[in-house]
Amino acid sequence: HLLAADAAIVEHTFHVGNLSVVRLGQSQVITAVNGQFPGPKIEARDGDTVVVHVVNGSPYNLSIHWHGILQRLSSWADGPNMVSQCPIPAGGGRYTYRFNVSGQEGTLWWHAHASFLRATVYGALLLRPAPGASYPFPRPHREATILLGEWWNASVVDVERQALLAGGAPNNSVALTINGLISASSEALTVERGRTYLLRIVNAALNYQLFFKVAGHNFTVVAADACYTDPYRTDVIVIAPGQTVDALLRADADPGRRYYMAAQVYQSLANATYSATATAVLSYHHHQQQRQETMMPSMPAFNDSAIAERFYASLTGLLLPKVPTVPLRVDTRMLVTFGLGVTPCAPAQTLCNRTLGSVAASMNNVSFQFPTAMSLLEAHMRGAPDGVYTRDFPDRPPVMFDFTGAAAAAAASMAPTAKGTKVKPLRYNETVEVVLQNTAILGAENHPLHLHGFNFYVLAQGAGNFNAHRHVRAYNLVNPHQRNTVAVPAAGWAVIRFTADNPGVWIMHCHLDAHLPFGLAMAFEVEDGPTPDAVLPPPPPDYPQC
Ligand code: C2O
Repeated sequence: HLLAADAAIVEHTFHVGNLSVVRLGQSQVITAVNGQFPGPKIEARDGDTVVVHVVNGSPYNLSIHWHGILQRLSSWADGPNMVSQCPIPAGGGRYTYRFNVSGQEGTLWWHAHASFLRATVYGALLLRPAPGASYPFPRPHREATILLGEWWNASVVDVERQALLAGGAPNNSVALTINGLISASSEALTVERGRTYLLRIVNAALNYQLFFKVAGHNFTVVAADACYTDPYRTDVIVIAPGQTVDALLRADADPGRRYYMAAQVYQSLANATYSATATAVLSYHHHQQQRQETMMPSMPAFNDSAIAERFYASLTGLLLPKVPTVPLRVDTRMLVTFGLGVTPCAPAQTLCNRTLGSVAASMNNVSFQFPTAMSLLEAHMRGAPDGVYTRDFPDRPPVMFDFTGAAAAAAASMAPTAKGTKVKPLRYNETVEVVLQNTAILGAENHPLHLHGFNFYVLAQGAGNFNAHRHVRAYNLVNPHQRNTVAVPAAGWAVIRFTADNPGVWIMHCHLDAHLPFGLAMAFEVEDGPTPDAVLPPPPPDYPQC
């Protein structure tokens, strides 16, 4: 591909290795990129080519995913371990990721996509308009990146091991972080009164959906997952793991005071016990700060689902000439149920609690198994999926039970969860609608479902059972917002629609990290298109082998 005249190549080298950091008075060795935590920021403009040379000097095999990058015709650079590639070997393995930014502006991020390593291996990916183009809102005075994360006083690889062995949820993190720091009382953002700032907010936490507020200030949301939204004014931002929000903040408060920004856990579980808050300070330039306490925002209750519902329901897509409108013709309709259940350990399964069994999450009763010999994408390229995956991911769940409450639990225990590596094959340019139904079998949890390789329209979402007759009338087919990660409410549903215009293999999975090894995933296999510009090129020469 020829670059547009003013497009650039944005090149980075990521050295992955050990880094010693002190948090909560304790020293901890983490896996990090270039000795930085959070990792380096990648800044590109629409139309640029991004090239990242990864040198894996860490003790773990890993891969890096560019979360939300569409990867048109570059599925090889997507990054999920054993889906688009074998891992980059520990102790010095290398792989160069190369992809174009095409038609994307806003905030995305990158993270390790192998075991729990993304807890510390992540960073921001900031996409700005092409030269000569501008934001569809007044130019902000400055920008600030806000990466929300979680912290464990332990090796995160051990935390994952423990979760798998215990057959349950991982140990809670000990704290939430803002830009890698725990409850900092140092300045995170210094503003000038009367100016407008663009906050680029990323939820990089492993297990928690979050509320985010800044005391004394309001936001105008302008984008979600690097897709522009109609300006939406709110005092609280709701953000699930994997999601991003771009919001304008006008510095219009009393400049003589200091203000906390705060992120706090949102959990719909009625009996949730974990409630952590991370803070950082916003203050005003050139002002004698009065000797007053820093103002803390009043945070919602940890389980205030009404706030979360209102936030998501208020987002609509900004209609721009260059943004395609929602496809009205649907070629393939799927109903995908998903949730957590328990299965007995398989005889050869090493990380499994022999008494309790293992937590097996599933989609349409298939618990996704990552292949071990070859990545899905490589098998796809060879045209020989035999032994790696099968093309029989079901369009509907095997049993059409009442998805909520005790009936669901009973029905689920009768409908066995099968382990498998099943993909849903799609024709090039096919339009797909998926009703995502959270069955909430084991604990009522919101599951943020992330689709690689595409943005999808969120047509509707709601609580309880999806009902085709009732809910179809609620679809927004005029200006639904687009994203790559949708937080499907506990015991609720969401309807998404996308066009399969990107050949390759693309995983869709829960972005609560523990649910990935439990199998809360499936994959789409999109065939090549009819013209040369719609054919996935061969893998790069340094493509890792297993
Ligand atoms: Cu951000 Cu498959 O992940």
